[in-house]
Amino acid sequence: MMVAVLCVAARTTAAAAASDSPEAGARGAYLAAAAGCETCHTDRERGGAAYAGGRMMATEYGTITTPNITPDRATGIGRWTDQDFTRSMRWGIAPDDTHYVPVFPFPAYNRLTEADLTAIRTYLYSLAPVSRPDLKSTAGPGLLPRAKNAVAIALSPAPGPWLPDPNHDAVWNRGAYLVVTIGRCGECHTPRDWLGRPDPHRLLAGSPGDGRSKKAPNITPDRSAGIGNWSENDIVEVLTTGHTPDFDEVGGSMAEIVKNTARLSDTDRRAIAVYLESIPALPGPISR
Ligand code: HEC
Ligand code: HEC
Repeated sequence: MMVAVLCVAARTTAAAAASDSPEAGARGAYLAAAAGCETCHTDRERGGAAYAGGRMMATEYGTITTPNITPDRATGIGRWTDQDFTRSMRWGIAPDDTHYVPVFPFPAYNRLTEADLTAIRTYLYSLAPVSRPDLKSTAGPGLLPRAKNAVAIALSPAPGPWLPDPNHDAVWNRGAYLVVTIGRCGECHTPRDWLGRPDPHRLLAGSPGDGRSKKAPNITPDRSAGIGNWSENDIVEVLTTGHTPDFDEVGGSMAEIVKNTARLSDTDRRAIAVYLESIPALPGPISR
């Protein structure tokens, strides 16, 4: 009996050490910065504290104010269980069972590994709690987009954590994972059908900007429509500084993404470039 209890105790502490360790927190900090959690969940315009929410975002669902994701018990996510956090991040469902709108990029976070999701959670719960009540959204409820979104979610069950492709090496797999999850590149660069579902035959082939995705160019290796003439260094450069090989600078929503990818390590940016250079080249009308 005693032995069994000790074993269980030892196992639980080992598990806790693996998930809530300083290493997990540091990895979580890195992933959260690169994913732009802070960019969206901080009200820079009004000098709000990092991760305390309050940024207003004009969307097809109306103006949405980002929530406070510091561990404050009254106004943040301090009362959430680990399951609450996982459910919100993977499936976009709040603790009160309501659905979030996908301005919160949970369809991309659905594909995070369990270890990375735990790392992000560990990091957020290590932050100082900041009391900042939600500023209520000001615009209409955007009923049609919300209904379409509910149908789209019902019709496309989330695939769950991303699995490495054994036909490719570790660098390629790292790049593919970052593009799909933390970078959420397809969010804008892949066109969608009328329900807002990404078109699986046009991955990263550019989007004219329909409802959920903004207008974004083709970033497949097609030589005329895409970025087939860019070198690996060119791709790393745009993700680091925003500078393109034609001496231009990316603007619009990509400028904000660059602030996030700039916080990735050079190794991770290079992995993204390796992956992008390997995907099928698709022709397409969308160019800058
Ligand atoms: C593009 C902007 C954006 C990014 C990037 C983003 N979020 Fe959010 N997040 C939102 C919005 C908007 C909501 C609220 C959605 C709604 O009300 O339907 C939200 C909601 C949430 C919630 C639910 C909070 C609550 O109180 O119900 C959590 C948790 C969360 N985000 C965590 C994260 C984490 C962790 C990251 C980074 C890995 C992240 N978000 C990245 C915009 C963003
Ligand atoms: C929120 C929407 C959004 C997301 C997410 C996004 N992009 Fe972009 N991207 C854009 C837009 C819009 C442009 C065009 C910017 C311009 O015209 O100045 C762009 C431009 C680019 C360009 C320059 C292409 C050219 O022909 O000049 C590259 C390369 C690129 N993005 C790669 C990426 C990668 C890699 C990711 C994921 C890490 C990503 N983008 C995520 C919106 C996005």
